[in-house]
Amino acid sequence: MNNSTHEELYIGPCTLDDMEGIVAVWRECGLTAPQNNPWKDIQRKLRQNDGLFLVARTMDQNDGRVIGTVMGGYDGHRGWIYYLGVLPAYQGADIGRKLVECVTRKLAVQGCPKINLQVRASNLQCLGFYETLGFEREAVLSYGKRLDD
Ligand SMILES: CC(C)(COP(=O)(O)OP(=O)(O)OC[C@H]1O[C@@H](n2cnc3c(N)ncnc32)[C@H](O)[C@@H]1OP(=O)(O)O)[C@@H](O)C(=O)NCCC(=O)NCCS
Repeated sequence: MNNSTHEELYIGPCTLDDMEGIVAVWRECGLTAPQNNPWKDIQRKLRQNDGLFLVARTMDQNDGRVIGTVMGGYDGHRGWIYYLGVLPAYQGADIGRKLVECVTRKLAVQGCPKINLQVRASNLQCLGFYETLGFEREAVLSYGKRLDD
């Protein structure tokens, strides 16, 4: 019920059948990284079955092809946004905004009080997008530790 439709645009949960399309979006958007296996990332997330991994499709000549993605997460304290991307040919048409709004609504329904996200230092060009959507830069340093994959 929280899915959003707008003209030919449909945003909703993805399935394993969308894997190829999702990886294509991530590659075209520069979201893949050598340390991440996108196929494993998709499979692990779908096993969570939390309804927070969304894709945008158009129902026009693309026949439902995936044109955008967002992966939400909620750990009981903070919500997170990962893998937000819109195919370059579709950027600037409010699809990124709609993906963020859609996952935000779904996080809010789960009781999430705040959403965090990380931006790679090599991708500062997307900062203005998040600021337009009301996200504020915070004085935190991000640490990570990789476990066996
Ligand atoms: C970031 C991204 C998802 C934005 O998607 P999009 O569909 O092009 O953005 P939208 O059309 O929904 O833009 C929404 C608003 O943000 C603004 N905006 C978009 N990109 C912006 C930018 N780089 N700087 C400043 N503002 C920006 C738009 O002008 C629009 O504002 P408006 O409504 O006041 O006109 C898209 O550019 C993308 O996929 N980039 C590559 C992957 C990426 O960097 N992902 C984020 C990883 S942290």
